[in-house]
Amino acid sequence: MPVLSGLYLPELWIWKVSEQMKDVFGRTIDYLRISITDRCNLRCRYCMPENLSLVSMREILTYEEIEQICRAAAELGIQKIKITGGEPLVRRDCPQLIGKLKRIPGITQVTLTTNGILLEKALPELIAQGLDAVNISLDTLDSNQYEKMTGKRELQTVWKSLRRAADSSLRVKINVVLQKGWNEKEWLQLAEISRRYPVDVRFIELMPIGAGKEAEGISQEELLQNLHAQFPQIRKDTRIHGNGPAVYYRIPGFQGSIGLISAIHGKFCQSCNRLRLTSQGKLKPCLCFAESVDLRKILRGEEESRAAGMKPREEIETDGQKEIRENLRQAILIAVRQKPPGHEFGIREQVTERLPMVQIGG
Ligand code: 5AD
Ligand code: SF4
Repeated sequence: MPVLSGLYLPELWIWKVSEQMKDVFGRTIDYLRISITDRCNLRCRYCMPENLSLVSMREILTYEEIEQICRAAAELGIQKIKITGGEPLVRRDCPQLIGKLKRIPGITQVTLTTNGILLEKALPELIAQGLDAVNISLDTLDSNQYEKMTGKRELQTVWKSLRRAADSSLRVKINVVLQKGWNEKEWLQLAEISRRYPVDVRFIELMPIGAGKEAEGISQEELLQNLHAQFPQIRKDTRIHGNGPAVYYRIPGFQGSIGLISAIHGKFCQSCNRLRLTSQGKLKPCLCFAESVDLRKILRGEEESRAAGMKPREEIETDGQKEIRENLRQAILIAVRQKPPGHEFGIREQVTERLPMVQIGG
C-alpha cells in the first residue's frame, strides 16, 4: 500500500503511480489535443470540406464534460493540453474553459491553436486565464490569396492579432501549410515573419486527411534545401520549443526559429506523445486511423440512468461520479494501448480516418 507523508490517499496513489503513462511501445503519453468545436469562421480548402453538415450542439461535449475528461486524463499522466477546433474562439467562453483546465492538478500547460480572427479581442482574457502559448494558422501574406484559400477577406484582422500576440507575454508560433500552386512560393516571406517578430514559424507538411487528400503539399526536404540556399548560416536549434514533433532551425538575425513538421516524409511517430479528443467526445489514438474510444457515451450513460430514476439522486451522484471517473480512466488507458507504432500517411489506402480535419482539430 503506498504511503504518502504517512497517509494513505487512494486518489493520489493512482495519480502518483501513473505519473508517466506509457504506451506498449514505451512512449510517454502526456499530451492531449482537444477539439472543442467543429465550427469555424473560415473555410480553409484542405481542412473544411464543402457541404459539411454541422453536428448539433447536443452532440458536442459540454465544457463540464471536457473538464471531467481532463481530470481523469491528468490523474493518468496527461500534463499538457492543446485546445483546437474548428476554430476554438468561436465557442463562447473558451478562455474560461482554459482557466478551468489550467487549474486541474497535474496540468502544467494549456495552449491554443487558432486562425487568429477573434484572437486580438480575446487575448487579455486568455492571458488572464493562464494560457501558456498560442499557435496562429496563417498560410499566405497576400490578401487575395488568403480570401481564395480561406473563403474570407480577413488577412488584416489576423495580422493585427499576430502583432498583438507577439507583443504580449505569450509564446507565439505561426502554423503554415504549404500547398503546390497556392502558396508554396511564399515560403520565404512567411519565414521572414520570425525575423521581424519574436515568433516561431512552423511549416507543417500537408496531411492526407479529409479535404487534405485532394490538395498537394510540398516536401520538407525541398523546403529545407531552399532555406539552406537562402540562409547558408542556418543551424539546427536544439532547444525544446513545445510539445510537438517540429525540428527547429535558427537563422542569425532572426528573433524566432523556423520549425519543420515533416508529418509525411520525416516520420516522427517514435516520439509520439499524444491523444486527440474530437468535439464529439471520441478519443483518437492516432490521427491517421478511424479507431477511437467513445468517452461521451461513458459521460452520458449517467444521464440516462438518472432519467430512469433508478436510485435516489444523492446516491447516484456520489456513486455515479466515481464510476464515471473510473470508466473514463479505463477508456483513456484503452486508447493509449491502442496507439499504433506509426501513421501510414504515405500509403493513401491505409489512411482509414474519414472525418475532416475540422472535426479532429489537426
Ligand atoms: N494537413 C496539415 N495540417 C493541417 N491543418 C489542417 N488541416 C491540415 C492538413 N490536412 C492545420 C491547420 C492548423 C492546424 C490546426 O492544423 O493549418 O494550423
Ligand atoms: Fe478553420 Fe483552421 Fe480548418 Fe481553416 S484550418 S477551416 S481556420 S479549422
